[in-house]
Amino acid sequence: MGNYGHGDTSWFVHDRFGMFIHWGLYSMPARHEWIRNYECITNEDYQIYFDLFNPDLFDPKAWAKAAKDAGMRYFVITTKHHEGFCLWDTKYTDYKITNTPFGRDALREIVDAFRAEGIHVGLYYSLIDWHHPDFTVDPNHPLRNLPNRDELNEGRDMKRYAQYMRDQVTELLTNYGKIDVMWFDFSYPVGRNGHDEVWSKGHPERRSWDGKCGDDWEAEKLIKLVRSLQPDIVVDNRLDLPGSGDIVTPEQYTPDAQVTVDGKPVAWEGCQTFSGSWGYYRDELCWKDSKQCIDMLINHVSRGGNLIMNVGPTGRGFIDERAMERLAAYGKWMKYNNKSIYGCGPAPAEFPAPVDTRYTYNPETKRLYVHLMNWPFKHITLPNLAGKVKYAQFLHDGSQVLVRDNSKNVNAALNASCPEGAVALELPVQKPNQEVPVIELFLN
Ligand code: GLC
Repeated sequence: MGNYGHGDTSWFVHDRFGMFIHWGLYSMPARHEWIRNYECITNEDYQIYFDLFNPDLFDPKAWAKAAKDAGMRYFVITTKHHEGFCLWDTKYTDYKITNTPFGRDALREIVDAFRAEGIHVGLYYSLIDWHHPDFTVDPNHPLRNLPNRDELNEGRDMKRYAQYMRDQVTELLTNYGKIDVMWFDFSYPVGRNGHDEVWSKGHPERRSWDGKCGDDWEAEKLIKLVRSLQPDIVVDNRLDLPGSGDIVTPEQYTPDAQVTVDGKPVAWEGCQTFSGSWGYYRDELCWKDSKQCIDMLINHVSRGGNLIMNVGPTGRGFIDERAMERLAAYGKWMKYNNKSIYGCGPAPAEFPAPVDTRYTYNPETKRLYVHLMNWPFKHITLPNLAGKVKYAQFLHDGSQVLVRDNSKNVNAALNASCPEGAVALELPVQKPNQEVPVIELFLN
């Protein structure tokens, strides 16, 4: 594994909760950010969105406020997604926002607005580019089904494209102040580097129909450039270059335990959506409800991870009400319960969490947070905590929760169901008015 240096993840693993933003031309058709791939749209047919792009309700201060109110402490914005459209005033292509009717450098306004709210700044940059003339047509490319597809790659040169990426990344990491996160997306080395031969199966001559990997991005040069421009920056792990990333990035699923690499726990960030797609998708019906969204945050942190939750603003530039509702639910919960998230990670292994609960733990304050995912009836017993709890309270209102230590024999009947070494908490019959109530245990 190469050594390409490492960024400063200390703030990142403390802050735990971020906002992903996917915004580009695909916000206008509103049928998924992969629409060019799904519908095999040519550059010519896609041009209409560029020609008409004019988000008249664009208000990055409102986005930043929504993130801040939700309790999010960092954000990552798509400076360029797979469609190749650039949200900033780059020198290296005309395919940029300043050439649309909108005419402004949206990235600058977005970065300024989030910074003003004290939110760490992250940039997503797509390695894939379906618009760039040097990016070779491969099995993900919108032109893959054209009858002349084998000729399309003549004259395309991935080396020139790799230089284009370095030039753009240099702009991004030079002209926008301190950047805290760099999020490259993504490599698909199918048929390459000994990976599964799927697309080129039976057609070894079709080397160009394989996927793309670190060699195509000249990943080593790219990561060295990033680290030289912004030494502290946190970089994701999608360059297909072992040793180049600071964080592991499970996508659209929640790992069921602390993520490890070679048996060692690592910093990780689950990237998740409210409804499935990343870009604004008008007709999508599979929206998660507020409780699911809050559960996901708790699950990530209890397993040692971060959660970056995505919003896809509309083509007019606002975050639609379904997303705003869920952000508001986060905010309502985080306002009273964020101490169980910031600075927290998994509980020490000696304290297994009982069924229907999740633990998080703050090693500095030595507080253990019991998240009651499903409200129990009157009592809950927590193993291995006898003699170790100084005080317990609900996190949201600071009201005391009585702790029954079975060694003290206060209630014989209860003790019978409170095994040796456990404590029982006495709970009100009615669930407090919190989506997920949290009990804060002050450990000795
Ligand atoms: C993916 C998709 C994409 C999204 C990203 C976020 O790999 O290609 O559309 O931007 O995941 O993690």
